[in-house]
Amino acid sequence: MKKIKVNTHSKNYEIHIGENIFPQIFDLTKGKNFYKNYFTIVDKHVFEKHSKIIENTFHGLEKNFIYIFNSSEKNKSLEEVNKIYNSLIKKSYGRDTTIISIGGGIVGDLSAFVASTFSRGTNFIQIPTTLLSMVDSSVGGKTGVNFGETKNLIGTFFQPDLVLIDTNFLSTLPKDELICGLGEVAKYYYLTGGNFYKSALIKILDNDYSEIENLIYKSVDFKSKVVETDETENGLRKILNLGHTFGHAIEIEQNHKIKHGQAVVIGIASSLYLSNFLGLITQNELEKYLELPLLFQTQVMIDKINTNSIIKIMQRDKKNRNGKIKFVLVKEPANILIDIEADKNLVVKSLEKGLSLFI
Ligand SMILES: NC(=O)c1ccc[n+]([C@@H]2O[C@H](COP(=O)([O-])OP(=O)(O)OC[C@H]3O[C@@H](n4cnc5c(N)ncnc54)[C@H](O)[C@@H]3O)[C@@H](O)[C@H]2O)c1
Repeated sequence: MKKIKVNTHSKNYEIHIGENIFPQIFDLTKGKNFYKNYFTIVDKHVFEKHSKIIENTFHGLEKNFIYIFNSSEKNKSLEEVNKIYNSLIKKSYGRDTTIISIGGGIVGDLSAFVASTFSRGTNFIQIPTTLLSMVDSSVGGKTGVNFGETKNLIGTFFQPDLVLIDTNFLSTLPKDELICGLGEVAKYYYLTGGNFYKSALIKILDNDYSEIENLIYKSVDFKSKVVETDETENGLRKILNLGHTFGHAIEIEQNHKIKHGQAVVIGIASSLYLSNFLGLITQNELEKYLELPLLFQTQVMIDKINTNSIIKIMQRDKKNRNGKIKFVLVKEPANILIDIEADKNLVVKSLEKGLSLFI
């Protein structure tokens, strides 16, 4: 089992990574002042596939309620949060509760939001079960739900007290969801300049999973160091949003028919074009850096799309300042620029170029 310690301004916590480590959860919390009143929010599909191990592990706890959540971006909402608050109240849970999330990024973000707001904050354990949530969303403390047409508009920063990454959960993850996680991994290649990410990604796309634990470890280790430096995204942490300004807007425009990680891949390609149009990278560099998104060409496909709507959605992005869209762009791997503004014509052109690779 691998361990990473995260020391942020608001909280210090451990991330444990390994195969079949979920049953050790209560050994890992022993002596660490976790409240013994457990409320576990589990993704419906995960519970269908892993109910036996979850129930066996929780057997004998004095107080535990399992809340089954049907994950979708539509259900990542304040309405669903209200239902969970009501369930907590009905079952007499108070601040002395440990909320456990078992699922992908949707359950993780929503459960973390509940944990950060119910009774002004409970204990919180993240158990991610998708590749995307293992390499990214379970670490760093961004919580949230969608509101209206804006993704993650309502949320808080709230670090977990423990993250337990058991790669065994990946055994039941559908291939398209694995690809989605790889889409989020792709950004780490540009952020770190590490060729490891590119080669691991190629292996996994080729059904060779030998590097998966290492890939999760390296991704989470990098992300947690960024979060330690800038917990609430005032500067450096913005680099983690590479591809996301375009990506979030594409997801919304497509009414979530395209998955988050897939939209991020298109977003990265569009950001590379924009970096080229703004003279940050040469044509040769553009072609070299596009090799990674192009690996996803048969996995990410888009049908009809309205670029004007995407631009309008980007203009509502919560990361904008003074009504201006801000981009994260690439100068070279490991040299990322944040808060870059660009002329609307160039943004449209970059988006069209990025999309054209996947139509
Ligand atoms: N908080 C952050 O820092 C952060 C970072 C990146 C993404 N996100 C958020 O993460 C969300 C996407 O997360 P996701 O890609 O994990 O999607 P998800 O939570 O929707 O899970 C994808 C699908 O896989 C199923 N599933 C999950 N684990 C499974 C397993 N082990 N076996 C079988 N099926 C399983 C789920 O039921 C769902 O249908 C988005 O809402 C995005 O905004 C948050």
